[in-house]
Parts: sequence; C-alpha cells; structure tokens
Amino acid sequence: MKTKLSVFFCIVIAVITSISFAERKDLDVPQVKTYRIDRKISEEAQGCIDCHSEEAKGMVADWAESRHAHANVTCIDCHKAGAADKDISVAHSDYSDVPVSAIVSPKDCSRCHPTEAAEYAKSKHANTIEIMWNIKDPWLTKGLSSDIERTTGCFTCHGTVVKIDKKGKFDPLTWPNVGVGRKNPDGSLGSCSSCHTRHKFSIAEARKPEACGQCHLGPDHPQIEIYAESKHGAIYAAEGDKWKWDSAPGTWTPGVDYRAPTCSTCHMSAINGVAASHDVTERLAWETQAPITVRPSEFKPWPAKTDWKKERKKMKKVCLACHSPAWTDGHFDRFDAVVKTYNNDYFIPMKKKVTALYDKKLLDKKNPLDEKIEIELYELWHHEGRRARFGAAMMAPDYAWWHGFYEMKKRCMEIDEMIDELNESGKPAKIHKLRGSGGDTIKPDFSK
Ligand code: HEC
Ligand code: HEC
Ligand code: HEC
Ligand code: HEC
Ligand code: HEC
Ligand code: HEC
Ligand code: HEC
Ligand code: HEC
Repeated sequence: MKTKLSVFFCIVIAVITSISFAERKDLDVPQVKTYRIDRKISEEAQGCIDCHSEEAKGMVADWAESRHAHANVTCIDCHKAGAADKDISVAHSDYSDVPVSAIVSPKDCSRCHPTEAAEYAKSKHANTIEIMWNIKDPWLTKGLSSDIERTTGCFTCHGTVVKIDKKGKFDPLTWPNVGVGRKNPDGSLGSCSSCHTRHKFSIAEARKPEACGQCHLGPDHPQIEIYAESKHGAIYAAEGDKWKWDSAPGTWTPGVDYRAPTCSTCHMSAINGVAASHDVTERLAWETQAPITVRPSEFKPWPAKTDWKKERKKMKKVCLACHSPAWTDGHFDRFDAVVKTYNNDYFIPMKKKVTALYDKKLLDKKNPLDEKIEIELYELWHHEGRRARFGAAMMAPDYAWWHGFYEMKKRCMEIDEMIDELNESGKPAKIHKLRGSGGDTIKPDFSK
C-alpha cells in the first residue's frame, strides 16, 4: 500500500510540475526552478503523507493541489512542534516520533510569510477579542450570553482564547476555532485560515467575496448582501467565473484579470499604486459600525494609528483605477453626508431622549439590554443604523434606504411612543430577565 501511495504521490508532483512549467511559459520567465523537481521529500514528511492519505484523504488531496505542495512545503513545515510548545498533541505520539501540533498559528506561517503576518497582527481582525472587551460589549461583560452561545456564535467569527490542557487536549468550548482574532497558545493572534482555508491556502479563494461573506453578513453587518446588490457584485456574478483569480500579488490587474472590484480589491489587494495590506483597517476614513460614527483614530476602544485623510486618498485611488475623479468624489461626498445625517438626525438625538429616562429613574442602568426600549435603541444603531451607512459606503441603495433609513424612521417612531407611555404613566419600565445568560465576565489576559 505504501509504495502504491508513493507512486501516486510522484504522479501528483509530476502533474503539478508540468502545470507550473506551463505557467512559467505564459509569464515568459526564462529560468527553471529545478529545485522543485529535484528536491526530495524527507522520509519523515513522506511518513505523514502516507499515513494521512488513508486517515483523512481529503486533507492530503487539498494540500497536493496547493502552492505549498508546488514549493515542497510539507506537513512537517507547518505542524512540527518545538519541544517546549504548549500545544503538542500527546495522543499523536502513538503514530509518529515527530512531535506534532494541531494548531498552526500566524507565528508558524510568519517563518515564511513575515510581511503578511506582521500586517495582520496589527489589524482589527487579529485584535478583535480585546476590542470586544474594551468596548464593554454587554453580551460578554455583563454575561448576557452563555458559554455555548458564544462558542457557536461570537467566537466562531471573532475567535476565542484557545485552551489546552497538559496532555495536549483541547477544551471543546474553545476548539475547533478559526475565528479572525483567535488567541493561540503561543501568544500569537488570529488564524490565517479564516480566509485561506486549509489545506489549499489559496490566494484565489481569499480574493473572492465569499471568503469574507462567511462572517460579513446578516442584519448587523450585511456586507456580502450589500455587495451582491451593488453593480460591482452584479458584474462579479455575471462573469466572475471567467476572471483570473490567481495572479501573483501586485500583478492582479483591473481591466485585465477582472472587471469589477471584490472586497479584497477595495480593502486589501495592491491596485493603482496602493500597496497590498493584510490590515483591513487601512483605507478606512470612518468607524461606521460604531453607535456614533467617528474617525478610526478617535475610536476610543481601539484608536487606529492611521490618518483618515491619507486612508481616504488611498481608497479613492482604488476607485480611480476604473472611474473618473468626478464619479469617485461624488460617491464619497454622498457617503459622508449619510454618516452626518445618521449621527445628527437619528442616533445622537434618540440616545439623548433615552438617557433622560435613566435620569428620571424610568429606566434602570444596571443591565443595558433588559428593558424593551433599550433593545430598540440598540437595534437602531447596531442593525439599521449600520445598514444605512454600509449601504451608502458600498453602493447598495436598498440597504441605504429600505433596510436602512426607512427602518430607522419606523424604529424612532416606536421608541418615541414608548417614551411617551413611560412619561405619562410615571412608572419604571418592565425589566425582563434575559434567558441563557451566565457566560464568563472576566476579561481574558492580553498582557502576554
Ligand atoms: C501512522 C499514521 C500516522 C502518521 C505517520 C502521522 N499521523 Fe498524524 N494522525 C494520525 C491519526 C490516526 C490522527 C488522529 C488522531 C486522533 O486524534 O486520535 C492524526 C492526527 C493528526 C493531526 C491532528 C491532531 C489533533 O490533535 O487534532 C495532525 C496535525 C497530524 N496528525 C499531523 C501529522 C504530521 C505532521 C505527521 C508527520 C510528522 C503525521 N501526522 C504523521 C495518523 C498518523
Ligand atoms: C501551510 C501550512 C500547513 C501545511 C503544509 C499542512 N497543514 Fe495541516 N493544518 C494547517 C492549519 C492552519 C490547520 C488548521 C489548524 C489551525 O487552525 O491552527 C491544519 C489542520 C490540520 C489537521 C487537523 C484539522 C482537521 O481538519 O482535522 C490535520 C490532521 C492536518 N492539518 C494534517 C496535515 C497533513 C497530513 C499535512 C500534509 C499533507 C498538512 N496538515 C499540511 C496548516 C498546514
Ligand atoms: C516553510 C515555508 C512556508 C510556511 C511555513 C508557510 N508557507 Fe505559505 N507559501 C510558501 C511558499 C514558498 C509559497 C509560494 C509558492 C509558490 O510560489 O508557488 C507560499 C504561498 C502561500 C500562499 C499563496 C498561495 C497562492 O494561491 O498563490 C498563501 C495564501 C500562503 N502561502 C499561506 C500560508 C499560510 C496561511 C501559512 C501558515 C498556515 C503558510 N503559508 C505557511 C512557504 C510557506
Ligand atoms: C457571523 C459572524 C459574527 C458573529 C456570530 C458575531 N460577530 Fe461581532 N462582528 C462581526 C463582524 C463581521 C463585525 C464587523 C462589523 C463591521 O465593522 O462592519 C463585528 C463587530 C463586532 C463588534 C464591534 C467591533 C468594533 O470595532 O466596534 C463587537 C463588539 C462584536 N462584534 C461583538 C460580538 C459579540 C459579543 C457576539 C456574540 C454575542 C458577536 N459579535 C457575534 C462578526 C460576527
Ligand atoms: C481577512 C482575510 C485574510 C486573512 C485572515 C489572511 N489573508 Fe492572506 N490574503 C488575503 C487576500 C484577500 C489575499 C490576496 C491579496 C492580493 O490580491 O494581493 C491574500 C494573500 C496572501 C498571500 C499571497 C501573497 C504572496 O506574496 O504570495 C499570502 C502568502 C498570505 N495571504 C498569507 C497570509 C497569512 C500568513 C495570514 C495569517 C497571518 C493571512 N494570509 C491571513 C486574505 C486574508
Ligand atoms: C472569520 C470571520 C471573518 C472573515 C472571514 C473576515 N472578517 Fe472582516 N471582520 C471580522 C470581525 C469579527 C471584524 C470586527 C473586528 C473588530 O472591529 O473588532 C471584522 C472587521 C472587518 C473590517 C473593519 C475594520 C475596521 O477597522 O473597522 C473590514 C474592512 C473587514 N473586516 C474586511 C474583511 C475582508 C475584506 C474580508 C475578506 C477578505 C474579511 N473581512 C473576512 C470577521 C471576519
Ligand atoms: C468598491 C469598493 C468596495 C467593495 C467592493 C467593498 N467595500 Fe467595504 N467599504 C468600501 C468603502 C469605500 C467603505 C467605507 C470606507 C470609509 O470608512 O471611508 C467600506 C466599508 C466597509 C466596512 C466598514 C468598516 C467600518 O467598520 O467602518 C466593512 C466591514 C467592509 N467595508 C467590508 C467589506 C466586505 C466584507 C466586502 C465584500 C463583501 C466589501 N467591503 C466590499 C469599499 C468597498
Ligand atoms: C475594477 C474596476 C472598478 C473599481 C476598482 C471600482 N469600480 Fe465602480 N464600477 C465598475 C464597473 C465596471 C461599474 C459598472 C459601470 C456601469 O454601471 O456601467 C461600476 C459601477 C459603479 C457605480 C455605479 C453604481 C450603480 O448602482 O449604478 C458606482 C457608484 C461605483 N462604481 C463606485 C465605485 C467606487 C466609489 C469605487 C472605489 C471605492 C469603485 N467603484 C471601484 C468598476 C470598478
């Protein structure tokens, strides 16, 4: 069986090699990187492949199709653990003498991809667990959600603190997890496979909007739905399957490889003189997810080190790869006007009205989400207030208006009626006990 598999593997490598030859011919690059053909896979590494080809075939097939397999990066390069590592799989010593770790953290990838890892490390993605606690999100800090609700909800997108016992056994409440801000036992933050799923680790996959849409969706951050509604998304749906997705970074060219931008084009990829970045906070001029929209550098829970004027220029340069200055400026003037309307005509005055009820003791401050009117104010900014701003930012009129401003008008009407009723009766609002509370309320330690 072993020899059969080795033969199979040689064929896979031969096919891959001939594909990369064909690609090199296209690019007209004269030198042949023969090391890819001559270098042998070590016996140790071959051992992993042989056994795992039986244990979990799909995984090995994904790896065999990846650029890593092309470049002779094997299981061991990512999974081999150091003697002092906390995450060594003790159970695995029954199968192999090589110490193996199930977690492959950004620190492990940084050995070969230091730039991406360094950019990622300073992003809001990587630091989101700390941000959630700094914001004092009541679902966490007041324990309004239970551990299992967090594990299967919040933490799957945001990431969690991975806990592992001395025998290398994972706490099932924290594993599996590939959230963007996962805290790894080696202290590094995040998980690169949030967007580049294993074991293909494909650049093409990450450039498609679906890679982001797994988290950026739903009532409170519907970026994928917004994208689908936009002209850009419509063009992607109509002809995206014919675009070139795997061009080398920095050479993915608008008009040549693709005709309309994806999330990656606007937020991450190199384009029109704007350098690629794994820090998605770059290119932003507003915090449009916050209750009151502020500049990223003024966002108290996590002040960005960016200058919004420079970042706005960068984002405009993205558009200028395909649009005129008048078209581009017009878009951003409208978006900025929407941000101001939302702040000044909706959220700030409504918040003031509700705050007055606390002063009159008609509302109770202790729990910010256990009275009906508190939930209404929360959804005003967290749901339709975000949708109006995001819809305007990313060219989706239905989100700007019907899912956005229209819903805000209706919600404000409902809040006003509730305020009147409370003022007329003079009796404090009914307090509801939220079901399913009781999650941990202690902020994880981010000092190391
Ligand atoms: C003789 C068979 C065999 C060999 C050789 C082998 N593995 Fe495994 N490996 C397994 C089996 C079986 C499991 C599932 C173990 C379990 O969780 O009970 C596994 C699990 C794993 C896991 C997941 C561990 C976890 O805790 O979730 C990783 C990662 C892994 N192997 C990597 C490797 C690497 C890297 C090598 C080469 C150094 C290797 N394996 C060699 C059989 C093997
Ligand atoms: C480029 C790095 C890289 C290479 C090469 C690699 N892996 Fe992985 N592997 C990962 C990452 C990342 C994960 C997800 C774990 C995490 O989130 O930290 C993973 C997860 C796993 C798991 C457990 C997850 C599951 O779905 O059960 C196994 C088993 C595994 N790898 C085996 C292998 C084997 C066998 C090979 C070689 C054929 C291999 N890996 C090559 C990075 C790599
Ligand atoms: C031992 C070095 C090494 C490690 C460790 C490593 N990589 Fe790579 N990676 C490479 C090389 C070399 C290439 C380029 C292959 C090529 O040019 O074809 C590459 C290419 C890539 C690409 C581009 C793939 C494409 O479709 O063009 C991605 C994405 C990537 N790696 C992600 C990761 C992630 C995520 C990890 C950690 C889980 C990781 N790598 C770990 C060496 C490594
Ligand atoms: C489907 C994935 C997903 C789930 C589930 C999820 N979030 Fe989020 N969350 C996001 C995304 C995406 C954003 C970014 C919103 C934006 O900037 O548009 C976000 C934003 C946030 C923010 C604002 C961060 C900031 O910079 O202002 C907080 C706080 C937060 N989430 C907490 C939670 C909590 C607590 C839970 C569970 C009770 C949760 N989230 C569940 C994906 C998710
Ligand atoms: C938020 C999604 C996301 C996460 C998380 C992510 N990437 Fe990427 N990555 C992308 C996108 C999108 C591209 C393509 C950018 C472009 O077009 O230049 C990319 C491209 C790459 C490339 C190709 C660049 C090259 O020079 O070959 C590498 C390598 C890479 N990522 C490694 C990583 C590593 C390592 C991590 C973790 C530290 C990581 N990525 C985390 C989305 C992500
Ligand atoms: C696994 C879930 C996940 C995936 C996949 C993901 N994101 Fe995020 N993203 C988040 C969360 C969670 C936040 C909120 C972080 C915070 O503010 O605390 C976020 C925030 C953002 C922000 C706002 C940053 C800021 O400074 O306000 C942008 C922009 C963004 N993501 C773009 C992307 C793009 C582009 C992709 C795909 C290439 C992507 N994301 C993939 C979960 C994800
Ligand atoms: C045509 C370019 C473009 C495309 C395509 C695009 N975005 Fe955006 N995105 C923007 C602009 C412009 C803003 C507002 C920037 C600012 O703050 O001035 C924005 C804002 C955001 C924000 C809000 C950041 C915050 O917290 O305030 C998130 C999150 C986001 N985009 C994610 C995505 C995701 C995910 C996709 C794909 C599904 C996507 N974007 C597609 C241009 C784009
Ligand atoms: C890769 C090229 C490309 C990039 C980059 C790009 N766009 Fe577009 N955009 C298009 C194409 C193509 C259309 C469709 C033109 C048409 O409607 O005839 C379009 C349409 C639009 C529309 C019309 C929407 C509608 O509903 O009619 C607006 C507004 C727009 N883009 C704004 C922007 C902004 C703002 C940016 C930068 C944040 C941007 N675009 C980046 C290619 C691009």
